[in-house]
Amino acid sequence: MITFCLINQKGGCGKSSTCFHLSGALATSGMNVLLVDLDPQGSLSQGFLGPALVEQMPLIETIALLFDENSFFTGRDGLVHSTSFERISLCPANQLLAPFNTPQPELTGQFQYVVREFLNEQKERFDVCLIDCPPNLYRCSWTAMVAADEVIIPVPPEDFGTQGLRAVHQSILYARQLNHRLHRLGHLISRRDQRLVIHRKYEQSLRNQYGEMVLETVIPETSAFKVALTCRKPVEYHDPHSAAAQITRQLANEILTLAARRQSKRRVA
Ligand SMILES: Nc1ncnc2c1ncn2[C@@H]1O[C@H](COP(=O)(O)OP(=O)(O)O)[C@@H](O)[C@H]1O
Ligand SMILES: [Mg+2]
Repeated sequence: MITFCLINQKGGCGKSSTCFHLSGALATSGMNVLLVDLDPQGSLSQGFLGPALVEQMPLIETIALLFDENSFFTGRDGLVHSTSFERISLCPANQLLAPFNTPQPELTGQFQYVVREFLNEQKERFDVCLIDCPPNLYRCSWTAMVAADEVIIPVPPEDFGTQGLRAVHQSILYARQLNHRLHRLGHLISRRDQRLVIHRKYEQSLRNQYGEMVLETVIPETSAFKVALTCRKPVEYHDPHSAAAQITRQLANEILTLAARRQSKRRVA
């Protein structure tokens, strides 16, 4: 199982939306996909299961179970939910995760490995895992990085300064101290409006600055993603012939190819 986590400390940059739609493209290509929602806002979970169901889920059916000291010996079978889509499973999150997402993730302590250990238990069942993170670099994002193989950083091409990105890069470096496998796969330009000069300029400057560390595939701002999400279907199922579905398949191919290339390099090394 290869694990990707989507991280950025900004909200609204397309982390949850990308996880949601990518899962469809990966599943239709025949892969068994595990989605892990580590955001107390639960947008990814609500995308699949609807807000009413997700909000009233008890802790033992959500990812918060992993963080709850009182539940350490509770079985985790109730955590992996199937969805209406074949080959897509989901570990949901709701507001019960919020108290565990503390700002200072200590560098020591067993809790840091809770997600990693859980994913280790799942690795025979799934081919690929996508972890959706909250818009901060607190404990949930930290445990995601400790558990993941590859980090994808969705970035809308807006001039909000590089300060935020630097903090993301820094925390990836820290997390590597605990997870030597962790690799920054790249920045994913998301929500780009091709008509906006500022977007085109920002994209260019990001590519100049980070070179290969920017994925070739760009996610455009398009209502097809929003409409499909509102209908609770990854765009691959909602409108498989749309440009949005095509781009999502392209993204799936690109990240799998890059990750596989890296794995084979590691094997040779
Ligand atoms: N490429 C896109 N085109 C159109 N709307 C998008 C796109 N990506 C995200 N959105 C919408 O923008 C909002 C925020 O996106 P979301 O993925 O939840 O951001 P994040 O998880 O980074 O906070 C959601 O309503 C989502 O449907
Ligand atoms: Mg989100």
